[in-house]
Amino acid sequence: MEKREQLYEGKAKKVFATDDPEKVVVSYKDDATAFNGEKKGTIAGKGVINNKMTNHLMQRLEQAGVPTHYVEQLSDTDTVVKKVSIVPLEVIIRNISAGSFAKRYGVEEGIVFDAPTVEFSYKNDDLGDPLLNDTHALALKLATKEEIQQIKDYAFRVNELLKGFMKEIGIDLVDFKLEFGRLSDGTIVLADEISPDTCRLWDEKTHEKLDKDRFRRDLGGVEDAYQEVMRRLTGDK
Ligand code: TMP
Ligand code: ASP
Repeated sequence: MEKREQLYEGKAKKVFATDDPEKVVVSYKDDATAFNGEKKGTIAGKGVINNKMTNHLMQRLEQAGVPTHYVEQLSDTDTVVKKVSIVPLEVIIRNISAGSFAKRYGVEEGIVFDAPTVEFSYKNDDLGDPLLNDTHALALKLATKEEIQQIKDYAFRVNELLKGFMKEIGIDLVDFKLEFGRLSDGTIVLADEISPDTCRLWDEKTHEKLDKDRFRRDLGGVEDAYQEVMRRLTGDK
């Protein structure tokens, strides 16, 4: 697979064309942003970890029946994925109160829900990714009714699977964000990444934060936390 011209640069990744029109290469950066890009920094080694962790998790999800964009890892930071058009919705699943949920509804962090919640944000940096519901997404023609249902079904399935993978390594999956894409034939697949940048991960015993909140909240030990999750996942003791 040949990596060709850069198509796009995002906050945490770059995307390159390949010799295959149906495939692109995603290249993970160490750059980190928070609060819609207001806070900027770098997390040493993050690109490598997020690339490897996303690929590890996507392969396990795929084996469990969730279609993903994953094709093959090219290097420590680069991965070949199926080319998709991204559905401009950030799909957030929560199992425990934290972050914007705690703030919006005026509750403490750490309340364990009886059942997971789902919410959508409109993926639009200029507008600050505003929260919206299914009817808004339909009105804005961001996705069809069928696509929204499919996306929700996959997101809840990913939650059950991911919760299990994390529990095995002593981590509570608090919440996470997914993005989905359409293949050229319209099929919906899981895209983007699954990493400590896009999940809240708390050690089940110490409740230590093992995710990007360490960066967002200036808690220190950011690199170590990312490494720790990767070490537990791949069993390198
Ligand atoms: P929130 O509590 O700030 O809404 O975040 C919920 C989850 O979504 C959390 O695990 C972090 C993740 N997330 C992203 O991946 N990208 C984003 O831009 C935001 C705001 C959150
Ligand atoms: N990555 C997002 C941004 O820069 C936000 C976040 O993850 O907190 O806006």
